[in-house]
Amino acid sequence: MHNTRLDGLTEYPFQRLNALLATATPELPVGQHIAMSIGEPQHTPPALLHTALAQNPLDWGKYPPTPGTPEFRGAVASWITRRYHLPTTMIDGDKHVLPVAGSREALFMAAQLCVPPQKNGKTPTVLVPNPFYQVYFGAAVMNGAEPVFVPATKDTGFQPDYASASSDSLDRAAMAYLCTPANPQGTVATLEKLKAAIQLARKHDFVLISDECYSEIYDDKPPAGALEACAALGGDLRNVLVFNSLSKRSSVPGLRSGFVCGDADLIAKFNKLRAHGGAVQPVPVLNASIALWNDESHVSENRSLYRAKFDDAAQILGGRFGFYRPDGGFFLWLDVGDGEKAAHALWAKGGIKVLPGGYLARPDSAGRNPGQPYIRVALVHDRPRTAEALQRMRRILETSL
Ligand SMILES: Cc1ncc(COP(=O)(O)O)c(C=O)c1O
Repeated sequence: MHNTRLDGLTEYPFQRLNALLATATPELPVGQHIAMSIGEPQHTPPALLHTALAQNPLDWGKYPPTPGTPEFRGAVASWITRRYHLPTTMIDGDKHVLPVAGSREALFMAAQLCVPPQKNGKTPTVLVPNPFYQVYFGAAVMNGAEPVFVPATKDTGFQPDYASASSDSLDRAAMAYLCTPANPQGTVATLEKLKAAIQLARKHDFVLISDECYSEIYDDKPPAGALEACAALGGDLRNVLVFNSLSKRSSVPGLRSGFVCGDADLIAKFNKLRAHGGAVQPVPVLNASIALWNDESHVSENRSLYRAKFDDAAQILGGRFGFYRPDGGFFLWLDVGDGEKAAHALWAKGGIKVLPGGYLARPDSAGRNPGQPYIRVALVHDRPRTAEALQRMRRILETSL
């Protein structure tokens, strides 16, 4: 006996990658292998994290409240207000914010919150950009919705245009996932695009889920956010939920600390749902997270490290493999012709692990997988190690493909 919806899930990309790479034996010894397949920040976490975590050890003896603490919700509301220059009364931590144990679990659980058994008498849809962060697909499938993939390709500026979905898909839409800056392409949805997406969500009564976990890793200017777009539309948060976390911003993916902010009615319902089975943040983690959201200096140091690596990447790979400098995030999205073949060669000849882009996408109506020509390369290691990997990558891609 099992939930047969599980049968609709595909293998997670990293399992597919392991199977692909198992067919090769790297020429270089283990000590020289470099994993650039996973978006796991490797920069040193800020020292203030350790100080904050060490305070009040008796708090480990408390069950954490599902909605966190007023102090946590207040710190997040203040950060959002500062970051997006919002009117000071727009975000009320107690009404609009909940803590989440990293944004991943909450992006998944959001479908439990938003997908009804039927919409307009039919199976609901979930709009997903293609390529996409795999959690969106799993969330749709496990909640009985039909995932509808909307191209986020070079032709669409690497962001989906949800207004281009069929009227049937839009009528049945329960939610739409938007990722800005996008994983894997690094492109940012402009304020205008975000406003249009919110208006579309309100027109068709679906929830816009804006996944903004790369918002603080940007190149020259801070990306706009969906809450900023709500402000530009008059300040109402209806039909909008924004997800963010400290994982990338503060290089603490192991802390499992994030938040969801948006529509007060949905936040109240999410709190009710999460009381039944949501992941919570321990009180010492909530307190350490406040210290991190209140500090920007470690974030700007973090950004500088990524910028320096993109400078190196531009020098080493510029003019090759469709290299472009992304607006945000820490991935290269390189057009190598055949992503699987390139990933195999990079592992066999250079001990470098990258993710074939096809594993992050689904074939379109013409049967073409928009990720197939690409590899995704995570620039998460320190600068010298990253530069060494990119040099090796260039040599191998120039000679082996
Ligand atoms: C697009 C995207 N969303 C969400 C997440 C989840 O991150 P976390 O759960 O650490 O907040 C990731 C992590 O890699 C991601 O790439």
